[in-house]
Amino acid sequence: MTESDLTIVILAAGLGTRMKSAKAKVLHAAGGKTLIEHVVDTALELTQPARVFVVVGHQAGKVRSILETRGVGFIEQTEQKGTGHALMAGREALQGLPGRLVVLYGDCPLISAHTLRRLVQAQAESGSAATLITTLLEDPAGYGRVIEDESGLVRIIVEEKAATSVQRQVKQINSGIYCFSAAEFWANLGRIGTANPAGEYYLTDIVEILSQAGHAVRPMKIADPVEVLGINNRLELAKADALFRRRKAEELMLGGVTIEKPETVSIDGGVRIGMDTIVEPFAQILGATSIGEDCVIGACSIVRDSRLGRGVIVSPFTSIAGSEIDDEGQVGPYARLRMGAHVEAGAHVGNFVELKKTRLGPGSKAMHLAYLGDSDIGRKVNIGAGTITCNFDGVRKHATHIGDGAFVGSNSTIVAPMEIGADSYLAAGSVITHAVPPEALAIGRSRQVNKEGWARKRKKASHP
Ligand code: UD1
Ligand code: CA
Repeated sequence: MTESDLTIVILAAGLGTRMKSAKAKVLHAAGGKTLIEHVVDTALELTQPARVFVVVGHQAGKVRSILETRGVGFIEQTEQKGTGHALMAGREALQGLPGRLVVLYGDCPLISAHTLRRLVQAQAESGSAATLITTLLEDPAGYGRVIEDESGLVRIIVEEKAATSVQRQVKQINSGIYCFSAAEFWANLGRIGTANPAGEYYLTDIVEILSQAGHAVRPMKIADPVEVLGINNRLELAKADALFRRRKAEELMLGGVTIEKPETVSIDGGVRIGMDTIVEPFAQILGATSIGEDCVIGACSIVRDSRLGRGVIVSPFTSIAGSEIDDEGQVGPYARLRMGAHVEAGAHVGNFVELKKTRLGPGSKAMHLAYLGDSDIGRKVNIGAGTITCNFDGVRKHATHIGDGAFVGSNSTIVAPMEIGADSYLAAGSVITHAVPPEALAIGRSRQVNKEGWARKRKKASHP
């Protein structure tokens, strides 16, 4: 079988009433990616983008836009009259494509490429009209039930709503993942009707149509039901999320990352982490984050879309988004880095310090209680406790530049735009409104006056 023999259609037009959401079901996320992205990405491991089609309907624009870069095709199903109807909407685009047709549901995100390859192979080898993945579920509620004949072929699939009480006892369920011979599929699709309690065109009816016409429909039974978990409500969404997180944590641990209490951490699928890094409990590492070797990601810290070099220490309760920390940098506890903050090699950011669009040069330190925004800070600068860059004048943002080796005294208020020269000193408590030349001492505060004996006089005045 060549690649070009395989077409994959993913149904994603439904709203997903049981989610109780204004957002289409396939746009909900698990493991850091929307359900539809999971399914499409798995499909793309099997065939080229030109042979992957997504049936869209509810919030079609949004579904299309998140998939845009993947180069897959789309089929519009403007009215959602059932899973069979979704395929009917694709007849024109798809029926000319030869070979095999795999149908996947957009709400079934855990299926692996490995299992799908086995499905396609099983269908190819048996020469049957269709092969479908089934599994045994202790609690099959909500799924279609697979009814076999004496020879083990699939005779019909009954939807829960249409099932008799005896059929409901059947624990073998329809995963909703099928591989058809494309020719048989398109020849029989039109025969699906709407004679069921929901009045929908059920794709599952094609199984009975094929088998009555004398074609074999084979079940491919899989032992682990996890892969075919269908997401219909938020409980199932949470279950899928936990499964994705566990898969990712296991993959990282086997790759040499220590994860303490792995059941408590949330790590997105696209995250990369180097060997011997330690991830402490309740950390969240999200989006397109990459972390080097020998780092520590402290408990309850959140790192999103950021790059950390090697030997970086993030102490607990730190929030890092869209930022970079170079080798041996240290941040936290309780620090916040956002919007392009860049902590360069060996620099330290301590508790209750916020950096926004700010570079903190190599070896520099901002250890306590500071806001550094729109700033460019050189090497070996000391930022005292309570330093604030006043970057906003109520209308516009302004930049602050602090030269190498400068010493910014505690509680300095730097009114931007501002230039602080290299190796200069700012006296504690200064409000800096004029540029400071290199090597100067700037004092921007009123002089202290001591009034001798003032307290004694006051006491006398009130108790004569
Ligand atoms: C479906 C199967 C059921 C199976 C279960 C597995 C049918 C009739 N039933 O039931 O046998 O056990 O999946 O998870 O197929 N969709 C469209 N257009 C429509 C209707 C649905 O694109 O008109 C899409 C939905 O967006 C969804 C997928 O098809 O992604 C499945 O639809 P859903 O309503 O969730 O089917 P189930 O009732 O779960
Ligand atoms: Ca479903």
